[in-house]
Amino acid sequence: MFEASGYGCPSIHDQNRKLIFENEEAGVRYFWVKPSDVAIYVEHGAADIGVAGKDILLEYEPDLYELLDLAVGKCRMAVAGPSVFRDDPGKTLRVATKFPNIARHYYAKQSRAIDIIKLNGSIELAPLLGLSDVIVDIVETGTTLKENGLEPLETIVPISARLIANKVSFKFKNTEIKALCQSLSEYCQEVKRQHDKDSTLRRNAE
Ligand code: PRP
Repeated sequence: MFEASGYGCPSIHDQNRKLIFENEEAGVRYFWVKPSDVAIYVEHGAADIGVAGKDILLEYEPDLYELLDLAVGKCRMAVAGPSVFRDDPGKTLRVATKFPNIARHYYAKQSRAIDIIKLNGSIELAPLLGLSDVIVDIVETGTTLKENGLEPLETIVPISARLIANKVSFKFKNTEIKALCQSLSEYCQEVKRQHDKDSTLRRNAE
């Protein structure tokens, strides 16, 4: 997306284990970090901008600007559990998740008493082994849930990748960041137009 928007960096395509790539001519430097660390680098100003999932932004609530929905990495945060699960409001609900903050906010709004069981992965195991009643996790295709005998019960929030910016960088590199944001936004709109056109053609052909 950045390449198509005029911010390419040819060396990023090299097969190696480098983490930093620079295109001096274009004035850009990229670095790879773990998805959950992107917001940390941006919040602390080690990066001016970054691409982070809305799940990470909601969970960690970093102090930064969210500039653009890049409309990729689309999925949703959902409550899931065994199909036989019936909620008993009289009992504290046991919720396993990698996203305790999102889960806490969601159930607090419903004044529902919960116990959070914080896990780091393979969340789907928790209800299967009796560790929790339900899970709060990312659902994209639903395959992982289905293959583990679980099903989505409630959608909490749609998720996608967002362009984020450091607050100080946004002030002092405003022209550059706004220009980049505008280019990416136009690129996203073009992709959407193309996608809508293809869908219409496909529908008409059926
Ligand atoms: C997420 C999530 C589910 C899976 C859902 O895991 O935790 O396990 O994707 O995708 P699906 O609905 O298409 O099956 P992810 O791949 O992000 O790995 P992680 O748990 O290691 O972060």
